[in-house]
Amino acid sequence: MAEDKDKPEGGPEKDPVSDPANPDNQIDLERQSADSEHAAKIAGEIPERTRPDAPVAPRMRQQSRRKKGLVQEVGSTGHSWDGITEYDNPMPRWWLWTFYATIVWAIGYLIAYPAIPLVNGATQGLLGTSFRKEVAAEIQRFDEANAPIQARMTEVALQDIPDDAELSNYAMNAGGAVFRTWCAQCHGSGAAGAPGYPNLLDNVWLWGGSLEDIHLTIRHGIRDPQDPDTRYSEMPRFGADGLLERQQITQVVDHVLALADLPHSATSAEAGAEVYADFCAACHMDDGTGDRDQGAPDLTDAVWLYGSDRETVTRIVTEGPFGVMPAWSSRLSDADIRAVTAYVHALGGGE
Ligand code: HEC
Ligand code: HEC
Repeated sequence: MAEDKDKPEGGPEKDPVSDPANPDNQIDLERQSADSEHAAKIAGEIPERTRPDAPVAPRMRQQSRRKKGLVQEVGSTGHSWDGITEYDNPMPRWWLWTFYATIVWAIGYLIAYPAIPLVNGATQGLLGTSFRKEVAAEIQRFDEANAPIQARMTEVALQDIPDDAELSNYAMNAGGAVFRTWCAQCHGSGAAGAPGYPNLLDNVWLWGGSLEDIHLTIRHGIRDPQDPDTRYSEMPRFGADGLLERQQITQVVDHVLALADLPHSATSAEAGAEVYADFCAACHMDDGTGDRDQGAPDLTDAVWLYGSDRETVTRIVTEGPFGVMPAWSSRLSDADIRAVTAYVHALGGGE
């Protein structure tokens, strides 16, 4: 341990400057006592700053403002959390008046408009407003405004709709709305379809893409058991019903893949050609181009309703597809069906 040279043994060291016994130091002594008094005064007030950059405590500021007479002395509510007491200041005047104004407004509203719920309905209010009536009136106004064009929509020949500026414009708007409401959940909001749900944007059609064909499809649906006029056909369940052996299915699947120019086994496909001619050509045609009268898809093109991979084609041949599209004639008005027909026709693939 190093010896402290400034503190020699034998009592506290005397500083000649602050030593009161030093007669040369009278003036300093006076100043010193004033200093220490001041220091003592502020020592009680100024909390020690833990961080040099921390702001001066709000309490301090409050105190100094109070000293300058800037702050009125207010009582406390008696609430105190963690040493923070709540002043009992009055509400700001603007706030209070706004608050009273909302109460007056609410009472006025309660009297003027339907407001208080009762068992059947609600109090009617002095103004007799009915939002239900307003909505009904608005709907009626629109219906009346659209009535002439809707009537014309059902009167003209389907073929004339696309060439009629007013009707085709109506079809794009009203038909588009019908599509987004009733068709998008199956055909997709952009009408691009999904496996099992045909794409309506391309020019590949199962049942036909003319206005008449589309109109019939939408009115009566496809394989809809509720509609006697529905479009109907049923591809047999070749595997599930034991119409074909497992090996024959593999062979005919290879033939289908060959028709579409997809990777396949050539020898298996050759054997499959015979199976195809016996069991498939009646609907899908000898060359595989399909038959719209039966909704049998073209197997040679690049468009697939269910999928072009071997697994999917095998599943379709084994279990048989049975796509169902509901009939809309019982749910939509004639004008709406014609509008959505023209809309689908115009999406890109109309014939
Ligand atoms: C519940 C699902 C579903 C809804 C909803 C639906 N469709 Fe379909 N739609 C289908 C299916 C499935 C097919 C294909 C049926 C098949 O395999 O032959 C189809 C086929 C069609 C076709 C024939 C396509 C072609 O290639 O010939 C048209 C057109 C069509 N839908 C239009 C509509 C319109 C317009 C609506 C709305 C009013 C609608 N669909 C609502 C499921 C639906
Ligand atoms: C009675 C008519 C009929 C016969 C016979 C028939 N099909 Fe089909 N096939 C259809 C119809 C209709 C569809 C579409 C059905 C649907 O969408 O629900 C279809 C769909 C398919 C598809 C799906 C195509 C795609 O785009 O995803 C394949 C693959 C297929 N058939 C292969 C065959 C093969 C192979 C045979 C013979 C073993 C066969 N079909 C026999 C009517 C037939």
